[in-house]
Amino acid sequence: MTTTTTAPTTTTVLDASGVTMRFGGLTAVRGVDLTVNTGEIVGLIGPNGAGKTTFFNCLTGLYVPTEGKVAYKGTVLPPKPHLVTQAGIARTFQNIRLFANMTVLENVLVGRHTRTKEGLWSALLRLPGFRKAEEASRERAMELLEFTGLAAKADHLARNLPYGEQRKLEIARALASEPGLLLLDEPTAGMNPQETRAAEELIFAIRDQGIAVLVIEHDIRFIMNLCDRVAVLVQGEKIVEGPAEVVQADERVIAAYLGEPFEGAPGAAEAAEVEAAEADAAEGDAHSTTEGDDK
Ligand SMILES: Nc1ncnc2c1ncn2[C@@H]1O[C@H](COP(=O)(O)OP(=O)(O)OP(=O)(O)O)[C@@H](O)[C@H]1O
Ligand SMILES: [Mg+2]
Repeated sequence: MTTTTTAPTTTTVLDASGVTMRFGGLTAVRGVDLTVNTGEIVGLIGPNGAGKTTFFNCLTGLYVPTEGKVAYKGTVLPPKPHLVTQAGIARTFQNIRLFANMTVLENVLVGRHTRTKEGLWSALLRLPGFRKAEEASRERAMELLEFTGLAAKADHLARNLPYGEQRKLEIARALASEPGLLLLDEPTAGMNPQETRAAEELIFAIRDQGIAVLVIEHDIRFIMNLCDRVAVLVQGEKIVEGPAEVVQADERVIAAYLGEPFEGAPGAAEAAEVEAAEADAAEGDAHSTTEGDDK
């Protein structure tokens, strides 16, 4: 056995345990445990309606989970969004939420309000205290716009940005709260392949700055390139978790994505029919490309 004298450098940033969220009779998230450590990019995948966004909402205090707890760097968080942000967790939304009629720079400045003494209203109303703090904030906000590649558009109205840049601006605004953990809900939705590659680079750069990342995305290739670890939610439950290449090859994950029906599930007969038809079609196309890995 080898011993080492170096202190462990990884710590647990996020520790969610037994998180359950019920809406009336529907259990959207069921007993989910998930940790994210410093230096990690963790992926959260699963079919539509699996409970991914609901889980994010539980992590960030938007929902009060029916059961379970969420700890950030060892401290259990109260389920209040502003306290969660203050503690060090920032997020972006599946449906972009920007101040459409504010400039790009102003959107980032608003994101800084949890880190300045002056509050949101002070920022919006430009009270005297805000003006003082503004200069430092503005400098940091411009830095973040440089970092995300939006500096040239600092004075544009947010609503005039193309979609891909609006997603970037959401990230810049989230970073403005100086988080230790960034939660991204489908950051590349609606992006073209080049924009997606750029987003990938940006997320690696964020990780390299010491910010842990938890990312929801349907683009499996993106997830597999990016993530150290991937957790899979299906019908509210975490069914698999592991290194990207292990998860990618897991039968249960493949089944969840191909929609292989659970035994006795409604629609099973129809699914079998489609499968048979597809098999027939494949036979008629015998020399088509074999399952190539075209990475
Ligand atoms: N506020 C709510 N009230 C009632 N049901 C909800 C609420 N929010 C989500 N749900 C339900 O919880 C389930 C999980 O939804 P959620 O949006 O978390 O899925 P998701 O994995 O993010 O899906 P997608 O990939 O489509 O974004 C769905 O059945 C959804 O209808
Ligand atoms: Mg969602």
